[in-house]
Amino acid sequence: MNIIWHEKAKQFHLYNDEISYIMYVQPNGEMGQLYFGSRIHDKEDFTYLSHRGAKSMVAVDAPEENFSMELNRQEYPRFGSTDFGAHAFEAEYADASRVSNCRYLSHKIFAGKEKLDGLPATYADEAQAMALVVTMEDPLTKLNLELSYSIFRDLPVITRNVRFINRGDQKIILNRVMSACIDLPDQDYEWMQFSGAWARERIPATRKIERGMISVESKRGGSSANHNPFIIVKRPHADDFAGEAIGMSFVYSGNFLAAADADTYGRLRLLMGIHPDTFRWPLEAGAEFTAPEVVVAYTDKGLNDLSQTFHSLFNNHLVRGKWKNKARPILLNNWEATFMDFTQDSILKIAAKAKEAGAELFVLDDGWFGKRDDDYAGLGDWVENPDKLPGGMKELARKVNELGLEFGFWIEPEMVNPDSDLYRAHPDWAFAVPGREPALGRHQYVLDFSRDEVVDYIYDMLYKVIDGANISYMKWDMNRALTDVYSKGTEPELQGCVSHKYVLGVYRLYEKLIAAFPDILFESCSSGGSRFDAGMLYYAPQAWCSDNTDGADRVLIQYGSSYGYPISSIGAHVSAVPNQQTGRSVPIQFRADVACFGTFGYELDLNELSDGEFEQVKEQIVFMKKYRQLLQFGRFYRLVSPFETDMNAWMVVSEDKKQALVGVYTMRASVNGLDGRIRLAGLDEDKRYHINTCAYYGDELMRAGLLLDAKNALNYKIYQDYSSCIICLNAE
Ligand code: DGJ
Repeated sequence: MNIIWHEKAKQFHLYNDEISYIMYVQPNGEMGQLYFGSRIHDKEDFTYLSHRGAKSMVAVDAPEENFSMELNRQEYPRFGSTDFGAHAFEAEYADASRVSNCRYLSHKIFAGKEKLDGLPATYADEAQAMALVVTMEDPLTKLNLELSYSIFRDLPVITRNVRFINRGDQKIILNRVMSACIDLPDQDYEWMQFSGAWARERIPATRKIERGMISVESKRGGSSANHNPFIIVKRPHADDFAGEAIGMSFVYSGNFLAAADADTYGRLRLLMGIHPDTFRWPLEAGAEFTAPEVVVAYTDKGLNDLSQTFHSLFNNHLVRGKWKNKARPILLNNWEATFMDFTQDSILKIAAKAKEAGAELFVLDDGWFGKRDDDYAGLGDWVENPDKLPGGMKELARKVNELGLEFGFWIEPEMVNPDSDLYRAHPDWAFAVPGREPALGRHQYVLDFSRDEVVDYIYDMLYKVIDGANISYMKWDMNRALTDVYSKGTEPELQGCVSHKYVLGVYRLYEKLIAAFPDILFESCSSGGSRFDAGMLYYAPQAWCSDNTDGADRVLIQYGSSYGYPISSIGAHVSAVPNQQTGRSVPIQFRADVACFGTFGYELDLNELSDGEFEQVKEQIVFMKKYRQLLQFGRFYRLVSPFETDMNAWMVVSEDKKQALVGVYTMRASVNGLDGRIRLAGLDEDKRYHINTCAYYGDELMRAGLLLDAKNALNYKIYQDYSSCIICLNAE
């Protein structure tokens, strides 16, 4: 790993064993991009890579060289230049002009990685990463731009973010701030996005890149179920096992834009950042603005490799604290078992049965506070309801602990019901435009987390509930989108800052809770998986993946989630059948075989199972306890796509390749076809692996495939709809 500055050619080369990223100072002083891809040898001068065959007939920026930015690849393109593509930033000045011209001023290179104040970001020590900060300045207005980069030693990853500093004496308004721009020299790519809606989150969709713009976005306040802030561009032939691809993940949990601009000369520009429609940030003289981080990963070995890079990066350089790389407790959550209709006794009955099954953690979901018997009331009143919890959270936690289980509970701190003491006392703490009726969502308003006093008040209430109770886990929910975003604590001029400040408020509350209770395992949630993003993982190492707990649908949702997020982050539970959302009944073994490629838990009353099913649950928990470290932190491979076949198969392999687990799922059985043969991945070619009473070499399993036929004595019964198995491989 190194970052080299070639003074003469004014070029930077960031490289490690796998990738190179090269950029330079263009003839007009602005930064241009030269190369991003597999590692290439370093040399003094790569300027020739900027060459493009086309001629600019419209505008030139440096007349003596006939230089037009339109024909070069840009590092951080501005509005109003001779680059006519989608721009990365736009600043507005006192005279209403919107044209900047920030030129290279200086740079610094150092070992390690700087923290981003108040924002989540990947981290690394001095041996693990190197950083570069390039400072640019607009000579007229003294707007300074700091383009920050890190390169990781062991991962094909570059991170980028940007800081704006107003070193002039006039006010400057930032209208658009993307965090990263990747300008590629050709357009032979497909675009992959992970889109959906409530209960069908992160479904992969691929489309060919054609001339023009492609984008996904959220303007819902959170990152959203509709489009995830993670995209891939891949070569058309690239698949899970081979080929070139670039992934970009936004380490941010609010409104975002991810776009590809394919120009008519063949350049492909990728942009990712805060959504400009909900952003307008005035910078007084001397003030700064720091944009969130974007992670950019590269592979030439296919999408499994790209996903593994994100998994490893997030597990090792994003998740913090006690739960970093630690197997997750097997929990029972009461939501689908009781909804809000429970008493302490009924909860303890469910918890006792969970203990008998072997679970380790009991989670009390929504309904324990205020006048919360349905979703019309109570949000904002974070005080125990004495009818349900007569001795408060402390007593319930103690009683659950006495059963031999850890204890955790649910909160939704960003919200308030109109029918709540909090709203009656502070109606101005909810977002609403003066004189207009704000929209309700699930009968609730959104609290104005852009205001410190609101965040601090909620923190104090939560602190009182947690303090003194033995709390091991918290589920932080967020059940509506942001609308009517207007802060009554903010002057009109600064209303364009509120959406971003709201997200900063969410991060601040997380940070305060983590500082006070560092051992609590947080699980983020937003009507299921509506805020499943890299920003959240910095605070909450796992995220409730979806409110759709139907095993069959979960295969699709978890498969899609695995492209950008580690298995350790995927909250997955076994729930009752017929499923609450789909009405479908799939066997309990299938539900568990899907959930074990996740954080694993149950969301039903185990007292209601038949004896036979309860025995199965006990066995599932024994299995999960034995293998969860491997399942959650092993090297994960997608093998057979449920979007392309009637099956699903995926696997994990241990770092030393001595152990592997393969999950195989028949979604829809077919009769009288060819043998089911699955080619495995990631094994040691020369090792012999035992599967039940059979043994196979790694190369055999990866090239010829594993034959899932009763005749070969494996005897896995996966020939019916929704049948499944987990196959254990142990090397000799
Ligand atoms: C939505 C979550 O996704 C559910 O798991 C549950 O916690 C409910 N909210 C509670 O209101």
